[in-house]
Amino acid sequence: MSYFEQIDKSRIPNHVAIIMDGNGRWAKERGLARIYGHQQGVDVLHDIITTVAETGVKYLTMYAFSLENWNRPKDEVSSLMDIAVELIRKERSTLIEKNVRLLTLGDNDLLPDKVKDAFMECEEVTKNNTGLTLIFALSYSSRWEITEMAKRIARQAVEGKVKVEDISEDYVSSQLSTGLLGIPDPDLLIRTSGEQRISNYLLWQIAYSELYFTQCRWPDFNDEEFYKAIVDYQHRERRFGKTSEQIK
Ligand code: IPE
Ligand code: IPE
Ligand code: MG
Repeated sequence: MSYFEQIDKSRIPNHVAIIMDGNGRWAKERGLARIYGHQQGVDVLHDIITTVAETGVKYLTMYAFSLENWNRPKDEVSSLMDIAVELIRKERSTLIEKNVRLLTLGDNDLLPDKVKDAFMECEEVTKNNTGLTLIFALSYSSRWEITEMAKRIARQAVEGKVKVEDISEDYVSSQLSTGLLGIPDPDLLIRTSGEQRISNYLLWQIAYSELYFTQCRWPDFNDEEFYKAIVDYQHRERRFGKTSEQIK
């Protein structure tokens, strides 16, 4: 039976977050420059967006470029920025056709204008779409997001807009970039290419997410790999601190 056939349609995760890793290694293993891996990764992204939208997942957050990735060699960074623009140009019509809403997460100030403009325009034209919400974490790091949240709440406290005793976990969540955009916490986090680390991604939000690591390099990721992750997720018991008996 294929993984697709094993999926329980009544228990689809609401929010899936993905760390798309392994483009460089994929290329190197083929004697190619890293950039070919990134280009191949974009094609995979196209297929995955469509697949995820059809599965019934409501939010998909893709880690495309971290704040730490700015420290990569200049030519790789600039190629990645070109690829990001190309990606949006190519996906724009698909997002409209598939009723996908685009959002971005990250420190926009560091992005070249061409990237900012391409994403902003696409966010604007897709803002009323009601299907999948696709979130691009671009120039993003979780510690940056948490620091911004701390500054935001501190400002509100200084201005008398919030009382210190009213700062609850829910309030903190609501003041993160994800909270401000109305994005719920991920149910499932997938990382490709074998690395078992979080690399500064959604640290607060994944407190109770299920983690799924696969050896598959991102350019080799496909529908079946995605369905396999969903089936694995559906076999887990999410206890949120309770006992197994309490859940049943
Ligand atoms: C992920 O692939 C893409 C980005 C981080 C932009 P990598 O470029 O990290 O690929 P590896 O980890 O070097 O194989
Ligand atoms: C994490 O991948 C960031 C993205 C996938 C965009 P990295 O390849 O940059 O992570 P590390 O450096 O191996 O932890
Ligand atoms: Mg990597």
